[in-house]
Amino acid sequence: MADSSQPPLLEARNLRITFRRGRREFAVVEDMTFSLAAGQTLCLVGESGCGKSVTGNAVLGLLPQGSGRVAGGEILFAGRDLVALSAGEMRRIRAGKISIIFQDHAASLNPAHTIGRQLTESVRTREKVLGRGVSRREAYGESLALLERMGVTSPVWRMRQYPHELSGGMRQRILIGMALAKKPLLLIADEPTTALDVTVQAQILDLMSHLRRAMDTAILFITHDMGVVAEIADFVLVMYAGQMVEYDYAGGIFRNPLHPYTEGLLRSIPQPGRTGERLFAIEGAVPDLENLPPGCRFRERCPYGRPLCARMPPVTQLETKQVRCWRFAPGGEKIEA
Ligand SMILES: Nc1ncnc2c1ncn2[C@@H]1O[C@H](COP(=O)(O)OP(=O)(O)O)[C@@H](O)[C@H]1O
Ligand SMILES: [Mg+2]
Repeated sequence: MADSSQPPLLEARNLRITFRRGRREFAVVEDMTFSLAAGQTLCLVGESGCGKSVTGNAVLGLLPQGSGRVAGGEILFAGRDLVALSAGEMRRIRAGKISIIFQDHAASLNPAHTIGRQLTESVRTREKVLGRGVSRREAYGESLALLERMGVTSPVWRMRQYPHELSGGMRQRILIGMALAKKPLLLIADEPTTALDVTVQAQILDLMSHLRRAMDTAILFITHDMGVVAEIADFVLVMYAGQMVEYDYAGGIFRNPLHPYTEGLLRSIPQPGRTGERLFAIEGAVPDLENLPPGCRFRERCPYGRPLCARMPPVTQLETKQVRCWRFAPGGEKIEA
């Protein structure tokens, strides 16, 4: 589901990612194809264990060495295949082109150094990797400006603080600031607001939307929460058990969800003013990726399951939408009969 009006910055084509356990190698992500242009936000959404983080990490070559690998397909960044890059080339991309932020903001900052030192170092590293130089004073000035941009109050004082002196929301702002200090073309945000309370989460999402517009950064946003998707996504790719099951503009996902898994995720969003009602949850669990049953992976949890679903559904393109479900596959009814 690409927006053809803009050339893609990031493109995954038939991406396949495997892990090794003992002598067995099994796929945790299969047949993933998506694209993202400058200034756009693509959300990868699905329950825990669906392969979202593995997909984001693969873009930056961050799969665990020796056990995880890209076993097929391509990840193109500005037309270059990232999978084929050397470690040195990937380091340069990470230092100056693609940034990543994680949920665990406490672990992502160095507890022994002040915020100021960590921010100025991000700026200096960027310049070094780009083969340029920047004085300490310039790096300090840029860091201070970044904090202001992040909506951090009393930035001069914050620069002298240590991570443990800050609230979770403030630490996450600093990490976003550090990620943006690299002036990335692409920001990968893996559940960046999951550990925060709802009010702070809303502030951080606002901040990210604002920065994306101001800096034209592309964002690959990973979350399990459809409420968050509704706040930030231009495009949505719903993942289930390592596969794309639905991919569309955000409007198409929210107004016209087709896959039963998407329907289930949407029904689990809390509705304002309907407190006290029990939240809907999809029954059952994501199947074990090491021992997948043949056919549709959502079959056992699907309210529409039928015999045909014992075969893997093809991906069907319906206007802007792609959906992997027999109910929408042309001829599906006939095959069943
Ligand atoms: N280091 C690893 N070694 C083996 N399997 C892994 C590793 N990391 C993730 N996996 C497996 O890959 C699958 C997808 O994981 P992940 O991408 O973390 O899911 P999500 O981010 O959607 O919650 C899971 O089944 C998980 O067990
Ligand atoms: Mg994850």
